[in-house]
Amino acid sequence: MESSRQVLVCQYVNCQSSGSEAVLSAFRANPVAGVEVVASECQGQCSVGPTVRVLPDETWYCRVKPEDVIEIVDHHLWDGKPVERLLHPRFHPKF
Ligand code: FES
Repeated sequence: MESSRQVLVCQYVNCQSSGSEAVLSAFRANPVAGVEVVASECQGQCSVGPTVRVLPDETWYCRVKPEDVIEIVDHHLWDGKPVERLLHPRFHPKF
């Protein structure tokens, strides 16, 4: 089946040292129809990893922990509502 959306989970050095492998596993354990989970290269946000980016939405999450993943899956991937408390402030500034 062709995926229309992707979740990129950074697996480069800095994010890995912050636990991004477990974050990737948590996404893979909670699959969503039409969403492809991708182990990605560095996303350039190394100081606030693990970095998770949802495409084509261009939603960026920072400091994601494995226990946050189910909230992203339920609220964002299923219901279309980004999880505000995890949004990366550089890309999603609060007004
Ligand atoms: S190492 Fe993950 S964003 Fe750079």
